[in-house]
Amino acid sequence: MKIGIVTGGGDCPGLNAVIRAVAKTANKRSWETIGILGGYDGLLPPQHYRLLDYNALAGLLVRGGTILGTANRGHFSAKTGHGEVRQLPKELIDETKKGMEALGISALVAVGGDGSLTIAQQMHEAGIPIVGVPKTIDNDLAATTVTFGFDSAVACATDALDRLHTTAESHNRVMVLELMGRYAGWIAIYAGVAGGADVILIPEIPFRYESICAAIQEREKSGKHFTLIAISEGAKPAGGDFVTVGGQQENRESRLGGIGAVVAAEIEKRTGKETRLMVLGHLQRGGSPTFMDRVLCTLFGAKAVELITEGRFGRMVAHNGQFVDSVPLSEAIGRLRTVPLDAGFVHATRSLGICLGD
Ligand code: F6P
Repeated sequence: MKIGIVTGGGDCPGLNAVIRAVAKTANKRSWETIGILGGYDGLLPPQHYRLLDYNALAGLLVRGGTILGTANRGHFSAKTGHGEVRQLPKELIDETKKGMEALGISALVAVGGDGSLTIAQQMHEAGIPIVGVPKTIDNDLAATTVTFGFDSAVACATDALDRLHTTAESHNRVMVLELMGRYAGWIAIYAGVAGGADVILIPEIPFRYESICAAIQEREKSGKHFTLIAISEGAKPAGGDFVTVGGQQENRESRLGGIGAVVAAEIEKRTGKETRLMVLGHLQRGGSPTFMDRVLCTLFGAKAVELITEGRFGRMVAHNGQFVDSVPLSEAIGRLRTVPLDAGFVHATRSLGICLGD
Protein backbone atom coordinates (compact mmCIF):
# COMPACT_ATOMS: atom_id res chain seq x y z
CA MET A 1 0.00 0.00 0.00
CA LYS A 2 1.23 3.48 -0.84
CA ILE A 3 -0.26 6.70 0.54
CA GLY A 4 0.39 10.35 -0.31
CA ILE A 5 0.57 13.42 1.88
CA VAL A 6 0.13 16.98 0.69
CA THR A 7 0.49 20.29 2.57
CA GLY A 8 -1.65 23.17 1.29
CA GLY A 9 -2.34 26.83 2.07
CA GLY A 10 -0.15 29.07 4.22
CA ASP A 11 2.60 27.24 6.08
CA CYS A 12 2.80 27.06 9.86
CA PRO A 13 4.90 25.42 12.58
CA GLY A 14 4.12 21.72 12.88
CA LEU A 15 3.58 20.74 9.25
CA ASN A 16 6.78 18.72 9.25
CA ALA A 17 5.82 17.09 12.54
CA VAL A 18 2.58 15.88 10.91
CA ILE A 19 4.48 14.61 7.86
CA ARG A 20 6.77 12.69 10.20
CA ALA A 21 3.91 11.21 12.23
CA VAL A 22 1.98 10.12 9.13
CA ALA A 23 5.03 8.52 7.50
CA LYS A 24 6.17 6.82 10.74
CA THR A 25 2.72 5.38 11.41
CA ALA A 26 2.47 4.24 7.79
CA ASN A 27 5.97 2.70 7.91
CA LYS A 28 4.89 0.64 10.92
CA ARG A 29 2.15 -0.86 8.73
CA SER A 30 4.75 -1.49 6.00
CA TRP A 31 3.12 1.11 3.79
CA GLU A 32 5.09 3.53 1.64
CA THR A 33 4.51 7.26 1.99
CA ILE A 34 4.97 9.70 -0.87
CA GLY A 35 5.22 13.43 -0.14
CA ILE A 36 3.57 15.57 -2.85
CA LEU A 37 5.65 18.67 -3.56
CA GLY A 38 4.32 22.23 -3.88
CA GLY A 39 0.75 21.60 -2.72
CA TYR A 40 -1.91 19.76 -4.75
CA ASP A 41 -0.19 20.99 -7.96
CA GLY A 42 2.46 18.32 -7.38
CA LEU A 43 -0.14 15.68 -8.32
CA LEU A 44 -0.53 17.08 -11.83
CA PRO A 45 1.75 15.85 -14.63
CA PRO A 46 4.71 15.84 -14.47
CA GLN A 47 4.16 14.79 -10.84
CA HIS A 48 6.50 16.26 -8.23
CA TYR A 49 7.01 14.09 -5.17
CA ARG A 50 9.54 12.55 -2.84
CA LEU A 51 9.65 9.29 -0.96
CA LEU A 52 9.27 9.71 2.80
CA ASP A 53 11.23 6.70 3.96
CA TYR A 54 12.80 6.26 7.38
CA ASN A 55 15.86 8.40 6.55
CA ALA A 56 13.80 11.27 5.17
CA LEU A 57 12.13 11.83 8.55
CA ALA A 58 15.15 12.75 10.68
CA GLY A 59 14.84 16.13 12.41
CA LEU A 60 11.30 16.82 11.18
CA LEU A 61 9.62 17.03 14.59
CA VAL A 62 11.16 20.41 15.37
CA ARG A 63 11.61 21.85 11.90
CA GLY A 64 9.45 24.82 10.86
CA GLY A 65 7.75 25.22 7.48
CA THR A 66 7.09 22.20 5.28
CA ILE A 67 9.71 20.13 3.50
CA LEU A 68 7.09 19.46 0.82
CA GLY A 69 6.45 23.10 0.00
CA THR A 70 2.95 24.55 -0.19
CA ALA A 71 0.77 26.94 -2.19
CA ASN A 72 -2.14 29.22 -1.37
CA ARG A 73 -2.80 30.35 -4.93
CA GLY A 74 -2.98 28.89 -8.43
CA HIS A 75 -5.15 26.11 -9.92
CA PHE A 76 -6.13 24.62 -6.58
CA SER A 77 -7.62 27.69 -4.99
CA ALA A 78 -11.03 26.99 -3.50
CA LYS A 79 -11.57 30.38 -1.86
CA THR A 80 -11.80 33.85 -3.35
CA GLY A 81 -12.60 37.34 -2.05
CA HIS A 82 -13.61 37.26 1.61
CA GLY A 83 -14.01 33.48 1.82
CA GLU A 84 -16.35 32.75 -1.10
CA VAL A 85 -16.15 29.12 -2.23
CA ARG A 86 -14.94 28.30 -5.74
CA GLN A 87 -15.77 24.92 -7.28
CA LEU A 88 -12.69 23.33 -8.83
CA PRO A 89 -13.18 22.46 -12.54
CA LYS A 90 -14.04 18.79 -13.16
CA GLU A 91 -11.08 18.41 -15.55
CA LEU A 92 -8.69 19.48 -12.76
CA ILE A 93 -10.10 16.88 -10.38
CA ASP A 94 -9.91 14.24 -13.12
CA GLU A 95 -6.25 15.15 -13.69
CA THR A 96 -5.65 14.82 -9.96
CA LYS A 97 -7.16 11.32 -9.94
CA LYS A 98 -4.96 10.35 -12.86
CA GLY A 99 -1.94 11.78 -11.06
CA MET A 100 -2.67 9.66 -7.99
CA GLU A 101 -3.08 6.57 -10.15
CA ALA A 102 0.21 7.30 -11.92
CA LEU A 103 1.95 7.47 -8.54
CA GLY A 104 0.19 4.35 -7.29
CA ILE A 105 -1.28 6.22 -4.33
CA SER A 106 -4.40 4.64 -2.90
CA ALA A 107 -5.19 7.35 -0.32
CA LEU A 108 -4.22 10.95 0.29
CA VAL A 109 -3.67 12.86 3.55
CA ALA A 110 -4.43 16.56 3.01
CA VAL A 111 -2.96 18.84 5.64
CA GLY A 112 -4.51 22.27 5.43
CA GLY A 113 -6.81 25.00 6.65
CA ASP A 114 -10.21 26.12 5.46
CA GLY A 115 -9.16 26.54 1.80
CA SER A 116 -7.17 23.30 1.42
CA LEU A 117 -9.80 21.24 3.23
CA THR A 118 -12.54 22.73 1.02
CA ILE A 119 -10.50 21.34 -1.88
CA ALA A 120 -10.23 18.02 -0.03
CA GLN A 121 -14.02 17.89 0.38
CA GLN A 122 -14.54 18.55 -3.33
CA MET A 123 -12.08 15.75 -4.12
CA HIS A 124 -13.86 13.42 -1.70
CA GLU A 125 -17.18 14.18 -3.42
CA ALA A 126 -15.50 13.25 -6.71
CA GLY A 127 -14.50 9.86 -5.29
CA ILE A 128 -10.88 10.50 -4.28
CA PRO A 129 -9.97 8.60 -1.06
CA ILE A 130 -8.82 11.47 1.14
CA VAL A 131 -8.60 12.42 4.83
CA GLY A 132 -7.82 15.86 6.29
CA VAL A 133 -5.62 17.18 9.08
CA PRO A 134 -6.55 20.65 10.42
CA LYS A 135 -3.72 23.15 10.12
CA THR A 136 -3.82 26.91 10.60
CA ILE A 137 -2.39 29.49 12.92
CA ASP A 138 -5.80 31.20 12.73
CA ASN A 139 -7.53 28.42 14.74
CA ASP A 140 -10.70 29.19 12.80
CA LEU A 141 -11.77 25.72 11.64
CA ALA A 142 -15.15 24.52 12.77
CA ALA A 143 -15.47 21.02 14.26
CA THR A 144 -12.11 20.95 16.03
CA THR A 145 -11.41 22.73 19.29
CA VAL A 146 -7.89 23.50 18.12
CA THR A 147 -5.78 23.45 14.97
CA PHE A 148 -2.05 22.89 15.01
CA GLY A 149 0.10 25.98 14.44
CA PHE A 150 -2.09 28.14 16.65
CA ASP A 151 -0.16 27.55 19.86
CA SER A 152 3.16 28.38 18.16
CA ALA A 153 1.73 31.57 16.62
CA VAL A 154 0.36 32.69 19.98
CA ALA A 155 3.73 32.00 21.63
CA CYS A 156 5.40 34.24 19.05
CA ALA A 157 2.77 37.00 19.45
CA THR A 158 3.00 36.83 23.24
CA ASP A 159 6.76 37.18 23.11
CA ALA A 160 6.33 40.23 20.86
CA LEU A 161 3.91 41.83 23.34
CA ASP A 162 6.31 41.17 26.23
CA ARG A 163 9.02 42.98 24.30
CA LEU A 164 6.75 45.84 23.27
CA HIS A 165 5.66 46.22 26.89
CA THR A 166 9.08 47.30 28.14
CA THR A 167 9.74 49.75 25.32
CA ALA A 168 6.20 51.21 25.54
CA GLU A 169 6.68 51.78 29.25
CA SER A 170 10.11 53.36 28.82
CA HIS A 171 8.84 55.87 26.25
CA ASN A 172 5.33 56.47 27.58
CA ARG A 173 3.93 55.40 24.23
CA VAL A 174 0.95 53.63 22.82
CA MET A 175 2.12 50.47 21.02
CA VAL A 176 -0.13 48.80 18.50
CA LEU A 177 0.64 45.19 17.51
CA GLU A 178 -1.15 43.93 14.39
CA LEU A 179 -1.60 40.16 14.38
CA MET A 180 -2.76 37.60 11.82
CA GLY A 181 -5.86 35.44 12.13
CA ARG A 182 -7.98 36.42 9.15
CA TYR A 183 -11.66 36.77 10.22
CA ALA A 184 -11.18 35.25 13.68
CA GLY A 185 -9.64 36.95 16.70
CA TRP A 186 -8.16 33.86 18.38
CA ILE A 187 -4.50 34.87 18.03
CA ALA A 188 -5.11 38.45 19.21
CA ILE A 189 -7.27 37.51 22.19
CA TYR A 190 -5.03 34.67 23.40
CA ALA A 191 -1.80 36.64 22.93
CA GLY A 192 -3.45 39.81 24.23
CA VAL A 193 -4.42 38.13 27.48
CA ALA A 194 -1.10 36.26 27.79
CA GLY A 195 0.92 39.39 27.00
CA GLY A 196 -1.08 41.77 29.20
CA ALA A 197 -2.54 43.97 26.43
CA ASP A 198 -4.74 46.81 27.67
CA VAL A 199 -6.84 46.92 24.51
CA ILE A 200 -7.66 43.89 22.32
CA LEU A 201 -9.44 44.45 19.02
CA ILE A 202 -10.85 41.40 17.21
CA PRO A 203 -13.00 40.95 14.09
CA GLU A 204 -15.90 39.61 16.16
CA ILE A 205 -16.33 42.97 17.97
CA PRO A 206 -16.43 46.08 15.73
CA PHE A 207 -14.56 48.83 17.58
CA ARG A 208 -15.16 52.55 18.26
CA TYR A 209 -12.25 54.99 18.54
CA GLU A 210 -14.02 56.78 21.43
CA SER A 211 -13.87 53.60 23.47
CA ILE A 212 -10.17 52.93 22.73
CA CYS A 213 -9.16 56.54 23.50
CA ALA A 214 -11.22 56.51 26.71
CA ALA A 215 -9.28 53.42 27.84
CA ILE A 216 -5.96 55.19 27.11
CA GLN A 217 -7.07 58.33 28.99
CA GLU A 218 -8.24 56.22 31.89
CA ARG A 219 -4.78 54.67 32.16
CA GLU A 220 -3.18 58.12 32.00
CA LYS A 221 -5.32 59.24 34.93
CA SER A 222 -4.28 56.24 36.98
CA GLY A 223 -0.60 56.98 36.32
CA LYS A 224 0.01 54.45 33.51
CA HIS A 225 1.43 56.51 30.67
CA PHE A 226 1.69 53.69 28.15
CA THR A 227 -0.84 51.39 26.52
CA LEU A 228 -0.45 48.08 24.69
CA ILE A 229 -2.94 47.31 21.93
CA ALA A 230 -3.26 43.91 20.21
CA ILE A 231 -5.30 44.11 17.03
CA SER A 232 -6.35 41.37 14.60
CA GLU A 233 -5.73 42.00 10.92
CA GLY A 234 -9.46 41.40 10.42
CA ALA A 235 -10.65 43.95 13.01
CA LYS A 236 -12.81 46.77 11.70
CA PRO A 237 -14.51 49.87 13.09
CA ALA A 238 -18.25 49.81 13.70
CA GLY A 239 -19.84 50.58 10.34
CA GLY A 240 -16.46 50.27 8.58
CA ASP A 241 -14.88 47.63 6.39
CA PHE A 242 -11.83 45.32 6.39
CA VAL A 243 -8.49 46.80 5.38
CA THR A 244 -6.83 44.75 2.65
CA VAL A 245 -3.45 44.71 0.91
CA GLY A 246 -3.27 45.18 -2.87
CA GLY A 247 -6.12 44.60 -5.28
CA GLN A 248 -8.34 41.56 -5.55
CA GLN A 249 -6.56 38.87 -7.57
CA GLU A 250 -8.47 36.30 -9.59
CA ASN A 251 -9.20 33.06 -7.73
CA ARG A 252 -7.46 34.28 -4.62
CA GLU A 253 -8.63 35.14 -1.18
CA SER A 254 -8.28 38.83 -0.24
CA ARG A 255 -5.17 39.57 1.80
CA LEU A 256 -6.01 41.32 5.05
CA GLY A 257 -3.59 43.81 6.57
CA GLY A 258 -3.12 47.49 7.33
CA ILE A 259 -5.77 48.10 9.99
CA GLY A 260 -3.03 48.55 12.63
CA ALA A 261 -1.60 51.56 10.80
CA VAL A 262 -5.05 53.14 10.45
CA VAL A 263 -5.79 52.66 14.15
CA ALA A 264 -2.35 53.88 15.31
CA ALA A 265 -2.66 57.10 13.26
CA GLU A 266 -6.17 57.79 14.53
CA ILE A 267 -5.19 57.22 18.17
CA GLU A 268 -2.23 59.60 17.87
CA LYS A 269 -4.47 62.22 16.26
CA ARG A 270 -7.19 61.93 18.90
CA THR A 271 -5.09 61.56 22.06
CA GLY A 272 -1.90 63.41 21.13
CA LYS A 273 0.04 60.45 22.52
CA GLU A 274 3.02 59.19 20.59
CA THR A 275 1.87 55.92 18.99
CA ARG A 276 3.93 53.27 17.25
CA LEU A 277 2.86 50.30 15.15
CA MET A 278 4.35 46.87 14.76
CA VAL A 279 3.02 44.34 12.24
CA LEU A 280 4.19 40.91 13.37
CA GLY A 281 3.35 39.29 10.02
CA HIS A 282 4.90 36.02 8.94
CA LEU A 283 7.08 35.71 12.03
CA GLN A 284 3.94 34.13 13.49
CA ARG A 285 4.14 31.37 10.89
CA GLY A 286 7.85 30.65 10.99
CA GLY A 287 10.15 28.64 13.21
CA SER A 288 9.91 25.57 15.36
CA PRO A 289 6.57 24.36 16.78
CA THR A 290 5.90 24.63 20.53
CA PHE A 291 5.69 21.42 22.57
CA MET A 292 1.88 21.65 22.46
CA ASP A 293 1.91 21.75 18.67
CA ARG A 294 4.46 18.93 18.41
CA VAL A 295 2.22 16.71 20.50
CA LEU A 296 -0.94 17.71 18.60
CA CYS A 297 0.74 17.13 15.23
CA THR A 298 1.97 13.71 16.29
CA LEU A 299 -1.47 12.64 17.49
CA PHE A 300 -3.15 14.12 14.41
CA GLY A 301 -0.75 12.38 12.02
CA ALA A 302 -1.20 8.98 13.65
CA LYS A 303 -5.00 9.40 13.64
CA ALA A 304 -5.01 10.29 9.92
CA VAL A 305 -3.35 6.97 9.10
CA GLU A 306 -5.84 5.14 11.36
CA LEU A 307 -8.70 6.69 9.39
CA ILE A 308 -7.16 5.41 6.16
CA THR A 309 -6.70 1.95 7.69
CA GLU A 310 -10.39 1.91 8.57
CA GLY A 311 -11.38 3.23 5.13
CA ARG A 312 -13.07 6.25 6.72
CA PHE A 313 -12.47 8.74 3.92
CA GLY A 314 -13.91 12.24 3.65
CA ARG A 315 -13.16 12.82 7.32
CA MET A 316 -10.94 15.29 9.14
CA VAL A 317 -8.95 14.51 12.23
CA ALA A 318 -10.27 16.72 15.04
CA HIS A 319 -9.69 17.49 18.71
CA ASN A 320 -12.92 17.36 20.65
CA GLY A 321 -11.60 19.10 23.76
CA GLN A 322 -10.54 15.86 25.42
CA PHE A 323 -9.00 13.62 22.80
CA VAL A 324 -8.29 13.29 19.09
CA ASP A 325 -11.28 12.10 17.11
CA SER A 326 -12.59 12.71 13.59
CA VAL A 327 -15.50 14.51 11.90
CA PRO A 328 -16.81 14.62 8.32
CA LEU A 329 -14.77 17.15 6.30
CA SER A 330 -18.05 18.82 5.37
CA GLU A 331 -18.57 19.81 9.02
CA ALA A 332 -15.18 21.48 9.25
CA ILE A 333 -15.47 23.76 6.26
CA GLY A 334 -17.92 26.37 5.10
CA ARG A 335 -18.34 28.08 8.44
CA LEU A 336 -15.55 29.61 10.45
CA ARG A 337 -15.06 29.08 14.14
CA THR A 338 -14.84 32.59 15.54
CA VAL A 339 -14.36 33.75 19.14
CA PRO A 340 -17.70 33.30 20.94
CA LEU A 341 -18.88 36.57 22.44
CA ASP A 342 -20.86 35.31 25.39
CA ALA A 343 -18.35 33.11 27.19
CA GLY A 344 -14.77 32.21 27.95
CA PHE A 345 -12.16 34.67 26.87
CA VAL A 346 -14.44 37.58 26.04
CA HIS A 347 -16.16 37.28 29.38
CA ALA A 348 -12.87 37.07 31.28
CA THR A 349 -11.24 39.99 29.46
CA ARG A 350 -14.22 42.20 30.22
CA SER A 351 -14.10 41.17 33.89
CA LEU A 352 -10.45 42.16 34.00
CA GLY A 353 -11.24 45.58 32.54
CA ILE A 354 -9.44 45.00 29.25
CA CYS A 355 -10.94 47.24 26.57
CA LEU A 356 -12.39 45.27 23.63
CA GLY A 357 -13.12 48.43 21.69
CA ASP A 358 -16.91 48.39 21.91
O1 F6P B 1 -4.36 31.67 7.17
C1 F6P B 1 -3.10 31.91 7.66
C2 F6P B 1 -2.64 33.31 7.36
O2 F6P B 1 -1.36 33.47 7.90
C3 F6P B 1 -3.60 34.41 7.80
O3 F6P B 1 -3.53 34.66 9.19
C4 F6P B 1 -3.14 35.55 6.92
O4 F6P B 1 -4.21 36.44 6.68
C5 F6P B 1 -2.76 34.86 5.64
O5 F6P B 1 -2.52 33.50 5.96
C6 F6P B 1 -1.54 35.44 4.98
O6 F6P B 1 -1.28 34.75 3.81
P1 F6P B 1 -0.03 34.98 2.85
O7 F6P B 1 0.87 33.81 3.06
O8 F6P B 1 -0.63 35.00 1.48
O9 F6P B 1 0.63 36.27 3.23
